[in-house]
Amino acid sequence: MTKVNICGIEFKNPVIAASGTFGFGREFEEYYAIEKLGGISTKGLTLNKRDGNKGIRIYETASGLMNSIGLQNPGVSGFIKDELPFMESKDTVILANLGGSTLDDYLQGIELLNETSVHMIELNISCPNVKEGGMAFGIKCDTASQVVKEAKKISKKPMIVKLSPNAENIKDMAYACVEAGADGLSLINTFNALAIDIYKRKPIFNNITAGLSGPCIKPIALRMVYEVNQVVNVPIIGLGGIMTAEDAIEFIMAGATAIQVGSANFVNPTISIDIIEGIEKFMEKEGVKSLEEIRGIIGRF
Ligand SMILES: Cc1cc2nc3c(=O)[nH]c(=O)nc-3n(C[C@H](O)[C@H](O)[C@H](O)COP(=O)(O)O)c2cc1C
Repeated sequence: MTKVNICGIEFKNPVIAASGTFGFGREFEEYYAIEKLGGISTKGLTLNKRDGNKGIRIYETASGLMNSIGLQNPGVSGFIKDELPFMESKDTVILANLGGSTLDDYLQGIELLNETSVHMIELNISCPNVKEGGMAFGIKCDTASQVVKEAKKISKKPMIVKLSPNAENIKDMAYACVEAGADGLSLINTFNALAIDIYKRKPIFNNITAGLSGPCIKPIALRMVYEVNQVVNVPIIGLGGIMTAEDAIEFIMAGATAIQVGSANFVNPTISIDIIEGIEKFMEKEGVKSLEEIRGIIGRF
């Protein structure tokens, strides 16, 4: 009932664990069978291993989180050797989230991932916390378009491009990425934000700004999914502050084919299962036979 298809890949349900909030799934295995998820987006990978940023990395705000992890990850080869075998043993879709600081980093990363069992690449042109994360590519349409075009030329996997809400214009950005060959889009990554320790009279984060996520960004994320759905004709994966099944259904009604759960994993590690079950209950109660029936319904008014 809740199956969805994105770029020819079947997901048993539309709920995907969001990059950077679920690691490679190992820590969540003790709470539930992670193959119950529609999919898992890996921690953001870079060509070479990264230790991440120093100082405070996560900070709670009134209705969300700020993070400056700095893409700590084992590198693409380390992922393939040490993490992928575990993920492969689970029957769920694997999205390899790939960042980079140069075009060549992205291309080399894709070449390595091409030879693996990952189902899709989620091209991350939106990580705000390090220049290696690729946000520089994801702010302006011409640089985004260039990296997507070159990446798409060599990718043997369906390619989802993850957009930044910090892009100059989200609709233009979405359109440019699709024109350049993106098979789908995921949106959104975190917002550039600032927190200050007034007693130290200093920013909380060493990098001064950090990425804001969680319930506070949901209405903005939802508006962006709605707007992007008006201008592109590829599947959209919506995320940003999803905490409940109702939130997830809002994103589907705004045009998303699937959704990702991010910061909510830190509040309740089994939240994705509640969301999957809540979507099923909603469908039963409302007589919705497939998610197609409600997808993008808001755009039709
Ligand atoms: C601690 C943390 C680490 C993150 N790391 C990544 C990452 O490596 N790659 C990426 O594309 N997004 C990363 N994100 C962004 C999330 O995947 C997601 O786009 C964002 O948090 C918005 O969703 P949410 O409000 O449900 O958390 C990270 C977010 C958090 C909170």
